[in-house]
Amino acid sequence: TGHFTFDPGFTSTCSTESQITFIDGEKGQLLYRGYPIEQLAEQSTFLEVAYLLVNGELPDDKQYSKFQNTITHHTMLHDQIESFFQGFRRDSHPMAMLTGTVGALSGFYHDDQHTTEDEARDIAIHRIIAKIPTLAARCYKYRVGQPHVYPDNSLSYAGNFLRMCFAVPAEPYVVNPVIEKAMDKIFILHADHEQNASTSTVRLAGSSGANPYACMAAGIACLWGPSHGGANEAALNMLREIGTVDRIPEFIARAKDKNDPFRLMGFGHRVYKSMDPRATVMRKTTHEVLGELGITNPVLEVAMELEKIAMNEEYFVSRGLYPNVDFYSGIVLSALGFPTDMFTVLFSLARTTGWISQWNEMLEDPSQRIGRPRQLYTGATERDYVPIGKR
Ligand code: CMC
Repeated sequence: TGHFTFDPGFTSTCSTESQITFIDGEKGQLLYRGYPIEQLAEQSTFLEVAYLLVNGELPDDKQYSKFQNTITHHTMLHDQIESFFQGFRRDSHPMAMLTGTVGALSGFYHDDQHTTEDEARDIAIHRIIAKIPTLAARCYKYRVGQPHVYPDNSLSYAGNFLRMCFAVPAEPYVVNPVIEKAMDKIFILHADHEQNASTSTVRLAGSSGANPYACMAAGIACLWGPSHGGANEAALNMLREIGTVDRIPEFIARAKDKNDPFRLMGFGHRVYKSMDPRATVMRKTTHEVLGELGITNPVLEVAMELEKIAMNEEYFVSRGLYPNVDFYSGIVLSALGFPTDMFTVLFSLARTTGWISQWNEMLEDPSQRIGRPRQLYTGATERDYVPIGKR
């Protein structure tokens, strides 16, 4: 095939240069703009990390308050977006609503299409980072049949989101600081992960000069699948199905059986062949949150035991299969009160910042061209058309 390389699943193809996120899968290292994820998760805030991902440097006081001010001035949705929600069945999957309504923003902000202009790109970046929590919370409220709660710009990014999800007009709502910190950490941990499937989708969609909100919708669609963002939902469902510690060996045996398609959800990663550093932070957060809420969850017991057994099995060790971030995040999110079908919505909310940073980096590059992979054709060779009666 001439000078082309055949690389299905892109296991060895670098599709772009990037200065945003670095992963060393062997060492289990993840850096955003050079900063270790563990330090950012423990010491920073999501909004500061968003600034870092977009701009390349941590903000000083003045830059931070300007950024915060800009974001909080874009948190409202156009009222007509509400009719998009009303068009969905009440039991629609929240990811269906999120894909549709984020895509619909392209109809409201078509000027942001001028992706070659810095100012238009800046506005698109601010708008999407600001509006995604409002949209994600609206998906939740629509699903549970409660009225929309408007954003409160005096709260933190995570605090405002939790309030939009869990406040009801009849009662005052106070954000628990431990829960708020946990939510913020989950957002930081999921904010970017270099050229994963959804980010590559966003870059490919954006490479044609498409509207940025339409590109974000493409990313959300890709993230939905159980091999990607849907893994935490799948992991929690699996832990619930296992149910008790004594049933673990049966599921381990199934995961090892090559005639059984079953996989241990929340285990393994395309890039990490040692412990996912996000999983280490998430494991600690899980204990903090369950401790704060006074929850003794049998699912957590199953998770801890499963992790212990799997990590001592030759099958998992020799393949570099360790628990990934999604193994724990589902347990925390359900303790926070989110139904499982909201998990990927929360992942999308956090990853939007990474997607828009990557989209922007791509378009800032003067050598940027449309993405156009090639293929290895394995179909019929040339043949003549035969009229239908003669086939
Ligand atoms: N349980 C049992 N065996 C597994 C698992 C698993 N979870 N994951 C991989 N393997 C085996 C696989 O059968 C193969 O074995 P062999 O070499 O004997 O055929 C070997 O490990 C390599 O697997 P692979 O499918 O070639 O690896 P991949 O890089 O294509 O897939 C993965 C990575 C994450 C899709 C996969 O590990 C998986 O399906 N895990 C479960 C789903 C999951 O937790 N996904 C979340 C990923 S992290 C969040 C995100 O990026 O969105």
